[in-house]
Amino acid sequence: MKSWTATSWGTPRQSLILDFSAPIPSLPCNSKSFLLKISHVSLNPADLVLLKSLPPWLPFRRNPVPGMDFAGEIVAVGDAVPAEMELKEGDKVCGALGLWDVARGKGTLAEFVVVESSLVAKVPAKWGPKTAAGLMGISGQTAAVMARSVASPRGSRGGGWVLVNGATGGVGSVLVQICRGLGAQVVAVCSGENEELVKALGATEVIDYRAHEPLEEHLADVFRGGQLDAIFDCVGSQALYTNSPRYLKTHGKFINIVGGWSQGVIPFIRNKLRPLSLGGTPRNYELFLLSASGKAAREVAAWVEKGVIKGALIDSEFPMEQAIEAFEKLATGRAKGKIVVNVESS
Ligand SMILES: NC(=O)c1ccc[n+]([C@@H]2O[C@H](COP(=O)([O-])OP(=O)(O)OC[C@H]3O[C@@H](n4cnc5c(N)ncnc54)[C@H](OP(=O)(O)O)[C@@H]3O)[C@@H](O)[C@H]2O)c1
Repeated sequence: MKSWTATSWGTPRQSLILDFSAPIPSLPCNSKSFLLKISHVSLNPADLVLLKSLPPWLPFRRNPVPGMDFAGEIVAVGDAVPAEMELKEGDKVCGALGLWDVARGKGTLAEFVVVESSLVAKVPAKWGPKTAAGLMGISGQTAAVMARSVASPRGSRGGGWVLVNGATGGVGSVLVQICRGLGAQVVAVCSGENEELVKALGATEVIDYRAHEPLEEHLADVFRGGQLDAIFDCVGSQALYTNSPRYLKTHGKFINIVGGWSQGVIPFIRNKLRPLSLGGTPRNYELFLLSASGKAAREVAAWVEKGVIKGALIDSEFPMEQAIEAFEKLATGRAKGKIVVNVESS
């Protein structure tokens, strides 16, 4: 089959080759997995991190294939897949692989992939596979699970103010829609050229971070004394957290999804463990890490059914042969929503 394979570590251009000789994987006995024929894969910043940080000569990582998100068709059903899943050959499904699968190099940028059934959700009837790959993978699942904290009893349901930093990214663009649907007023932080786009997603106010540098000083002016109920940081700004007492309520929540070069260790120690007496910031800090699941993917689908998520923000689609160009666009950090690779294109 056709697949992208890493031959060294580094950037996608340094490390990836399009391989036409990998065997089609098969399902073992007593398998709770599906064999999928992949049609679309959407890319995530974590794909780039894994290619750079995990060399292909690691013993558990032979001929590694990148890619986490997928949409495709079931071509074989494992004999131990729970019957209540009600999924059969020919069904269109989507979702995202777990981090361990991808660390082992069992990625989705291939024509066929074996996927654990607990990671799979059915593609909603009204969607095409491109939309499903873009919305129900890592980004959409992250947004749906993070937004639960807005809906929790101590969250800001019913008129509270939440700030989404990185509102036009894969995660932020879904988060804005769900938070709005939960009744929150959403302050979206993005570059000025994307103002109309995030307003169309449901943002109440838009802050151009380039026109208001440093962002924290501007927020301290606008939300003086701490008026925000929650801050979702999809960019990973330490200053945004350190200054948060100036604009985040005392019991407000700060949720960061970017671990940085230390994969979250440094922000966790600095922001979660450091006592106030040693300079800690007096605001609740969470470092969120998604555990991908079919359940979280179905949560995204439920928001779509309710009309809260109006659609996937798809930046662009690339044919399978141009996956390196797709990764390079992702690496600019400027994509508006998701970048999708069409695996079936020839
Ligand atoms: N912890 C987890 O479980 C988890 C899950 C998913 C993603 N993540 C991480 O979360 C981050 C975001 O992921 P993503 O998929 O949303 O990324 P993405 O789609 O690549 O984000 C691109 C967006 O970032 C915006 N951006 C760049 N710099 C910005 C800044 N200084 N301020 C505000 N916006 C800025 C850009 O908007 P403009 O062009 O308007 O500037 C662009 O729309 C990544 O680091 C990713 O690895 C973590």
